Amino acid sequence: MEVQDLHMWVIGNWKMNGSQEFVSVFFRSLSSQSVPHGVSPVLCPPYPYISHVGDAITAHKKNYALGAQDLSAHEVGAHTGEVCGSMLQDCGCTYVLVGHAERKDDLSTVVAKVSVAQKAGLCPIICVGESEKGNFALLDEQLKKIFPATMKTPFLIAYEPLWAIGSTTPPSLEYINDALARIRGHFASLAFTDEVVILYGGSVTETFIETILPHTTLQGVLLGRASLSPSSWEHFLHLVGKHAVSSREDRS
Ligand code: PGA
Repeated sequence: MEVQDLHMWVIGNWKMNGSQEFVSVFFRSLSSQSVPHGVSPVLCPPYPYISHVGDAITAHKKNYALGAQDLSAHEVGAHTGEVCGSMLQDCGCTYVLVGHAERKDDLSTVVAKVSVAQKAGLCPIICVGESEKGNFALLDEQLKKIFPATMKTPFLIAYEPLWAIGSTTPPSLEYINDALARIRGHFASLAFTDEVVILYGGSVTETFIETILPHTTLQGVLLGRASLSPSSWEHFLHLVGKHAVSSREDRS
């Protein structure tokens, strides 16, 4: 059996939570534990605190990457209140969430945002997921519109069924594997040859990481509420780290 390193991502989406004080306390409360081998942690604070988090990452010598929660579909110019990809990159971001269900972007806006993010040198974390439990036709439509045969890299996909976000229970193993098969099937139909990294988001629990993640082809998780407490954040890094080296054969 071939055993390979399986790189994992843990994304923390702070949503509209935090303050300068929150950032200081969060980083002061982290332990001296290093990031588990094979895990890439990414923190996505609200825009005003991106630089504070970037400074704290440096000051506390944490091996975390910085991401934003959204970006403008435009590159520059007269778009009051918007923030473009080059500004995020200038502030130290290397990742950006695109199309999170709470943004309610239409699919053409998601496509435009993915393109400007990549142009600015950011890796978009593209959120997809059906809004109604079991209605996979909605997922298929997103896949068709967002990922054309000419899709460029880099990007990560976060499979986030809307109905599971902010709830108490994530979907079952069988449900997740059905969704993953549809996503992977879409890329196979495009004859896409690059590796497609898929994360899961929506009420991720410890049980999810221990009993579901290892039996899927998922390469990490997108945390909302669970990323807001330093102890929970570090706990999830550790839990996901346990699956960073694994056999692909076991997980297919
Ligand atoms: P949750 O949020 O973990 O609080 O459900 C997940 C998300 O919206 O990405």
